[in-house]
Parts: sequence; C-alpha cells; structure tokens
Amino acid sequence: MIDMSSFHLFFMRPTINVMKHLSLALIFSFSAAALLSGGDAPSSPAELRKAALAVVAPLPARMPGAERDTPEQIVLGRKLFNDNRLSINQSQSCNTCHRVDGGRGGVDNEAFSLGAHGKRGGRNAPTVLNAGLHIAQFWDGRADSLEAQAKGPVLNPVEMAMPNADEVVRRLKGTKDYPPLFAKAFGAGPESITYDNMARAIAAFERTLVSHDRLDDFLKGEDRALSLEEQRGLGLFLTAGCTTCHNGPLLGGNSYQKLGLVNPYPNDKDLGRMAITKDEGDKFKFKVPSLRNIGLTAPYFHDSAAATLPQAVEEMARLQLGKTLKPDEIKSLVAFLQTLSDKPRAKTTASR
Ligand code: HEC
Ligand code: HEC
Repeated sequence: MIDMSSFHLFFMRPTINVMKHLSLALIFSFSAAALLSGGDAPSSPAELRKAALAVVAPLPARMPGAERDTPEQIVLGRKLFNDNRLSINQSQSCNTCHRVDGGRGGVDNEAFSLGAHGKRGGRNAPTVLNAGLHIAQFWDGRADSLEAQAKGPVLNPVEMAMPNADEVVRRLKGTKDYPPLFAKAFGAGPESITYDNMARAIAAFERTLVSHDRLDDFLKGEDRALSLEEQRGLGLFLTAGCTTCHNGPLLGGNSYQKLGLVNPYPNDKDLGRMAITKDEGDKFKFKVPSLRNIGLTAPYFHDSAAATLPQAVEEMARLQLGKTLKPDEIKSLVAFLQTLSDKPRAKTTASR
C-alpha cells in the first residue's frame, strides 16, 4: 500500500491550479482508501467502480464541436490527413507520424519521427486518438485547438516542410480531386480552398477519432470487462496517487504538471511550457498525457526516455510520487493500463 506522504510536497507549490488538483486528489484518495479496504485489494467490483468514478469517467461518445462537422468535411479531412502531397517532396502525410490505419494507436512508435527532409524533431509524437478532448495540443499546449494545431506540421521544416500556406493552397487547387471535395465541404467556388479550411477539415476528421475501451465497459457496469489482475491495477492506480494528475475521462489531457515533481527528471533540456509562457513557474511543466491507448503508443515521455510501459510506470512513481513500486505492483498497473486500448485496435495488435 502506498502512503500519501509525498502529497505534502504539493502544498508547497504556489499555483492555485495545483492546489485545486491536490485538494481534489486528497479528498478522493482518502475516500478511495476507505472504499478499497486493504488498499491494493479491491473488495468488490462495485466498490472499485464507485471509487473510480469519483476521479475518472467514461469517454464521451462524441467530441465537443463534432456536432458542427458535416460528413463532407470529414471525408475531405480524412483524405487530407492521409495525403503525401501535403509535404514538400510528397513523401509524408499526417498519417506517417500518426498512424490511424492497420489498428495502430495514432502514432508511429518511433522515438523521434522522421520528417520530409530526413531530419528528426526533439519530441515524441503523441497520439491523435481522442486529441480533440485535450485542454490544448502539443506537449507544451502551444496550440489551443485541433484547427490551430493542424496548420503547424505542414509548414514545420522538420515535418512536412512546405514553404508557406499559399504554396499549399496553390498545390491543392492544382489537383483534379480536391476542388470538388472542398466545394462540397465548404461551398462552391475555388475560394473555398484555403489553408484555414484545410485545417478545419482535418480537425473534423480528427474529431471522429474517439476510442472505446474496456475501462469504459467496466465503468458503465460490466464487472467482467476487467480481469481480477486488471481490477487490482485500477485499485492501485487510484490509491497510489496517479489520479492527482491522470484524471477525468482521458486519465490526463486536462492540466500541466511538472515532470520531476519529487525527484528531478534527468533530461533538463526541454523547458516544456515555460518556453511558451516565459513564466519560471512553468519550468519543466508538460501537458499531462492522456493514458487512453497508452498500451499502443510506446515509447514514452516527451523525449521517449522510457522504452516500455513498465519502465514508464516505475519512473512515474519515482519521479512524481517519490515511490518505489514493487514488481507485482508494476505488473498490475501495466495490466490495467493495457485495458485502455481502443477495442478494435487492441485486437489487431494482439493478433499481429
Ligand atoms: C514528421 C512527423 C509528424 C507529422 C508529419 C505530423 N505530426 Fe503531428 N506531431 C508530431 C510530433 C513530434 C508532435 C509533438 C510535438 C510537440 O509537442 O512539440 C505532434 C503533435 C500533434 C498533435 C498534438 C497531440 C497532443 O496530444 O498534444 C496533433 C493533434 C497532431 N500532431 C496532428 C497532426 C496532423 C493533423 C498532422 C498533419 C497535418 C500532423 N500531426 C503531422 C509529429 C508529426
Ligand atoms: C504530479 C503529476 C503526475 C503524477 C502523480 C503521475 N503522472 Fe504520469 N505523467 C505526468 C506528466 C506531466 C507526464 C508527461 C511526461 C513528459 O513530459 O515526458 C506523465 C507521463 C506518464 C506516462 C507516459 C505517457 C506518454 O504518453 O508518454 C505514463 C504511462 C504515466 N504518466 C503513468 C503514470 C502512473 C501509472 C502514475 C502513478 C504511479 C503517474 N503517471 C503519476 C504527470 C503525473
């Protein structure tokens, strides 16, 4: 059983946001401890579910904003997402780095993705699955919407490397297939082909990428959706303190937290959110990643320092909570985290 002593460290952090998260987590952790007699041995699926629903939630069936997306915009967005012509030498698409085909988890599983010119960036590519449910996009939250995000990679010199937005529009206008598709999605006339509408369509497609997993089945009342080992892992996830940061429907994606809160992170090159806000208090803060589909998205951390899920879990406990997990605790936590994979994708991966 993991005690709560490391939470005191949180109280020394001045930001209101952390205080808010902390007090919620404390209230919850005590009630979870009371609900889960014996700490790591949930007494019944119903009690475990009740404890879980206090801090996590099933994924919504639809993303916010999806109600405004038309089928025509989604069709266009899917084509753009998969089209190599959006990169300078026609060598890569969004899907090259964020594979959503073939049961993949919205990533390329590379430490650092290869760009159109053969260069690699400095951060691991996160999954596009469920991304529209995040508070903001990128590890440092520098884009506030999927639309704003989608304008970045096409012009990023180490990604798709197009010289400017006009060149992208010129190229799309010069194709046979895009003018009618843009006209259907955004109204007739060549003026409907704009860089903004390109991003708007890609975002509409991305808003369809909501996953469905076994944790949701369990939370909705299906006791047998999780094995006993997986339930034990969920119990540990709740009592260990992980939900201080990994909470809500995504088990993350809703706050910025310091990486290396209790024990410093060895790689101090990436300042995280501070590079955007210029606020010293944001040094080494990153968007807490969603843990949905985490079993499909190795390697882990913004710098891909953890190759496997057991490593990532062990490191998280040490860095963020000052805890050394026992091997059987890591095993149960990993078993639980594997239940967060989109069901059709989990199947494809298992049978590969
Ligand atoms: C060369 C590889 C590469 C290509 C091509 C690429 N991305 Fe990314 N993508 C990344 C990396 C790396 C990051 C993280 C960068 C960061 O946080 O600074 C990222 C971040 C994202 C995010 C944010 C997810 C999150 O959890 O914050 C979304 C959404 C996304 N990309 C969508 C797209 C779309 C749409 C396209 C095509 C227009 C695209 N990407 C093209 C590598 C790529
Ligand atoms: C104080 C906040 C905090 C706590 C507590 C915390 N995490 Fe994290 N977690 C983060 C942040 C921030 C990151 C992003 C790290 C980075 O930028 O590389 C992260 C990353 C991860 C990742 C890798 C995600 C990815 O996509 O690469 C996993 C897995 C993870 N955490 C699991 C856990 C588990 C399991 C626990 C409990 C033992 C836990 N975390 C506790 C904040 C936290």
